[in-house]
Amino acid sequence: MPGLLLRTLRGENLPARPIWLMRQAGRYLPEYRVLREQKGGFLALVYDTDAAAEITLQPIRRFGFDGAILFSDILIVPHAMGQDLQFLAGEGPHLSPALIDERLDALHSVPERLTPIYETVAKVRATLGSERTLLGFAGSPWTVATYMVAGEGSRDQHHTRAMAYRDPAGFQAIIDAITQTTIGYLAGQIVAGAEAVQLFDSWAGSLAPAEFERWVIAPNAAIVSALKARFPDVPVIGFPKGAGEKLPAYARETGIDAVGLDETIDPLWTARTLPAGMPVQGNLDPLALLAGGDELEVRARAVLEAFADRPHVFNLGHGIDKETPIAHVERLITLARSWRG
Ligand code: CP3
Repeated sequence: MPGLLLRTLRGENLPARPIWLMRQAGRYLPEYRVLREQKGGFLALVYDTDAAAEITLQPIRRFGFDGAILFSDILIVPHAMGQDLQFLAGEGPHLSPALIDERLDALHSVPERLTPIYETVAKVRATLGSERTLLGFAGSPWTVATYMVAGEGSRDQHHTRAMAYRDPAGFQAIIDAITQTTIGYLAGQIVAGAEAVQLFDSWAGSLAPAEFERWVIAPNAAIVSALKARFPDVPVIGFPKGAGEKLPAYARETGIDAVGLDETIDPLWTARTLPAGMPVQGNLDPLALLAGGDELEVRARAVLEAFADRPHVFNLGHGIDKETPIAHVERLITLARSWRG
């Protein structure tokens, strides 16, 4: 029998709600910080498959979440496409050469950089009980492109948005290359044991409507249709952060099975605008979890009540803040577990 999370993603509206948290494997956990200290950095952890499997399982052991999300990063795809990748302490990621400086065909792909990730998936799957779901993931082409083009994170993705207007054919080639690598990468994760996958589109909110159609909806639709052709029963969760009023078109046109909602989305609006019965995931503000107190329970209960009429995976509206107290996460789990629709 598949677990609560997988059944919910497949469209069953069960009285109990599954729960997992974006970025649940990471810096708010003391046991993660110990391992990171020992291995000397984030990327070393990702490529050490025993360490990565252990970190994937840490939040499951501590809290018993319904889903384990693979410990890796969306920037492993540009690394495999041939960019150098570094995570400098306190500075965030750096990719080089940046595609504002260098043409795409100057990159030489290094597909072996994906192989350890599949090993991590297989190791986790071998340890995780059948009632827990193993989630694979990748970044969506638009969000990944913003890092590949600028070579780093940026506040409003302006280099990439400008390139997409200045040289649409050149930018299309970048998006297509990311799309193809991502299809192979997610297929590899599924073959290794991932039971559902999530596409993270953290910067979907920065695009104008026509650009959203072209750079968010179209490549995500291509990924979903390629995966569905090979793995029709593996749910795909799409998380277009900041998409706002473009969310209904995204949900209808990409072919995704479930949609992740950020904390700015009003559940009453989704009840009217998203396809009936489509599973949703979200959308407690991570800062409500950080702050804690009685307000945390009020807000978490409101999220649970608001999505009672459709399949709902309890989650945050974005990644958990690294300062979040463990006790607040424990309180949230207890509340979500005791709720019945
Ligand atoms: O969710 C999980 O627990 C699984 C692992 C995961 C990580 N990153 C680990 C990580 C996932 C799903 C991601 C996704 C990711 N990575 C996104 C999309 C989601 C989002 O949060 O918007 C993006 C944009 C990235 C790129 C990235 N990775 C940045 C900008 C940074 C540096 C900023 C930061 O938060 O430190 C990372 C590093 C990173 N990825 C860490 C972790 C645990 C922190 C590494 C450390 O310092 O130990």
